[in-house]
Amino acid sequence: MNAPPDPSSRVRSLRALIRHHNFRYYVLDDPEVSDAEFDRLFRELQTLEEQHPELDDPESPTHKVGSSWTPEEFVADSLPPVTHRVPMLSLENAMNLEEFAEWLERVRKGLPGEEEVPLSVEYKMDGVAVEVIYEEGVLVEGSTRGDGVTGEEITTNLRTIRTLPPRLTGDSPTRLELRGEVFMPLAEFAAMNASRSAEEGLFANPRNSTAGTLRQLDPRIAASRPLEIVLYGVGVAEGVAEGLDLESQQNLFAALPRWGFRAPSFHRVVTELDEVEAIYHEVELARDGLPFEIDGLVVKVEGGERRRRLGVRSRSPRWAIALKFPPRQETTRLEAVEWQIGRTGALTPVAHLAPVVLSGVTVSRATLHNPKEIERKGVLIGDRVLVQRAGDVIPEVVKAIEEGRDGSETPVELPERCPSCDEPIWYPEEEIVPTCQNIHCPAQIRGRLRHFASRRALDIDGLGAKLIDQLVDREIVRKPSELYLLEAETLADLDRMAEKSATNLILAIDETRDRPVARLLHAIGIRHVGETVARLLIEQFRDLDVLAVAKPEEMVEIDGIGPEIAATVADFFAREENRTELAALKAAGLRWREEGPPHAPPGDVSDDVSDDGERPLAGMTVVLTGTLPTWTRDEAKAQVIAAGGKITGSVSKKTALVVAGENAGSKLEKARSLGVEVVDEVGLRKILEGEHPSST
Ligand code: IVH
Repeated sequence: MNAPPDPSSRVRSLRALIRHHNFRYYVLDDPEVSDAEFDRLFRELQTLEEQHPELDDPESPTHKVGSSWTPEEFVADSLPPVTHRVPMLSLENAMNLEEFAEWLERVRKGLPGEEEVPLSVEYKMDGVAVEVIYEEGVLVEGSTRGDGVTGEEITTNLRTIRTLPPRLTGDSPTRLELRGEVFMPLAEFAAMNASRSAEEGLFANPRNSTAGTLRQLDPRIAASRPLEIVLYGVGVAEGVAEGLDLESQQNLFAALPRWGFRAPSFHRVVTELDEVEAIYHEVELARDGLPFEIDGLVVKVEGGERRRRLGVRSRSPRWAIALKFPPRQETTRLEAVEWQIGRTGALTPVAHLAPVVLSGVTVSRATLHNPKEIERKGVLIGDRVLVQRAGDVIPEVVKAIEEGRDGSETPVELPERCPSCDEPIWYPEEEIVPTCQNIHCPAQIRGRLRHFASRRALDIDGLGAKLIDQLVDREIVRKPSELYLLEAETLADLDRMAEKSATNLILAIDETRDRPVARLLHAIGIRHVGETVARLLIEQFRDLDVLAVAKPEEMVEIDGIGPEIAATVADFFAREENRTELAALKAAGLRWREEGPPHAPPGDVSDDVSDDGERPLAGMTVVLTGTLPTWTRDEAKAQVIAAGGKITGSVSKKTALVVAGENAGSKLEKARSLGVEVVDEVGLRKILEGEHPSST
């Protein structure tokens, strides 16, 4: 049996660790551990201090707000100190609904005689807490929270935030000290990070990027970055209307717009536990669609009178709590990198990780995108890495944590030969993605068949990845057309197949003979021809045989089809091996043409869509700038036009949306200066799916 660990030494080391991580987070804006890992350490210390009151110490980080790093480290600071008139407290965390219910129970006990305690529910914005002070309606000072009592002066940087008025409107108080959160919207953050080089280093997330920006000495840097602010609390308010209780969030949020601030995008007042639970589930589901990062809800008791009765603890008020969502960023170890070949021959690095739970799902693999990204993120095998997962998006490695390397880490080696067919890998000078050029490469064959059978292509029910692997490995099927020659007896011989499942699969394959031609065109897997481009081409040409002989000049007549797509399509149909495969598909009896004449003459398509309110971008003018991560310029253009939008080349006040990718330059700047909405590819995809970020 091991001796029980000595609590006093664990408490000491936890305090040192937490101070160190606070320093990394608050001073260097470069954390070494995920928030979840930090929270675990913090909780462990809190529990030990509760169990061993003799070890408690007023200097413990559990009694301090935020930046309680050691004095030596504090010297690293260069911004002037500011003392908050009213301390800026932190919040206690509830990690789940059970802990929240316990908090609510304590609140109700603390307010005897109150039948229904009104609770304000807000987003817990994942940004940087600040205080802004207005005197006679003029913004005079802004500061960070610091250790809660003393923060850092960042007035000039805060003045660059467009959503923070320099002067209040309406019946402004004589003195107003407001608290809020500065943050960066996700799309703008992604665009900014994408244009940072390996030397500059990547920001782990919008919050660190915001913190780093606010502490810059040169305000031009802050001005060039997409900062925004929401206000959610009051320190001091003098000269407000008689009886106006600003410790009611409802009153505060009604007053803010009168003074020229934006009201928060989400706020509700409820009284019951189950109402908070419902909001928690609702917001967690909506979280991925929000244009900014939140890490939970903040629930506050309404009213100054009640708040005073409940009181405060050393670092947090008893009248408020942060109800956190499960973490989506974690730190773990990169154990290996596997190279995979996709259907187009693209070589992709896949990270093998020590398993880690991200928003409730165990993750052991994540994408590293491409060799250039590995270099940019400075990842070595054996490194601790930050991984994240948002919604359905494939988990990705965000960055390497360089601290704590012991020299055993090894560089990620680029393969010289294809891991599937052993042919040499082609590393083109200008392109980011290396490829295997062998069209008979089994990995590519598998990938093409998977794409052909996938739900959004021909949707062959029952033909999954495992079965495709068997068919390719046994050389039963090498091309999509060969699926139509399969016989039930052959299939019944395969692993995990029986007579019944074999017959069902034959029927499912048979059904696909009558799929819309646009689906077939997408399924064939021509580069740049996704669902939308396929639809545009078939709407125009109707017949695959007609499309096969169409000239690129004819294709570019269609709005949404640019020269690059047109050239790729024409080149595809010109190749002998593709013609043979197409002939085989046609002979297999697949639907080859759609009824009816071609659509309206090409070129008019986008002009008459302005009143088409059904489509997500109906009547909107959109500008594309920079390189998007997965769509080519032509593909993005096609998507926008298919959604009713119109593409123009330059940004003006009439521009409704700017879609920005890597190396977006002056157009992005212009959009920001004009206040035009900016999204990245992910944001655009959300809009196309009918989910407009700013309407959530
Ligand atoms: S109220 C005494 N409301 O969360 C109340 N804080 O973990 C103090 N935060 O320091 C804060 N959204 O940086 C409040 N709607 C919200 C918030 C919020 C985010 C941050 C804030 C605070 C931290 C505590």
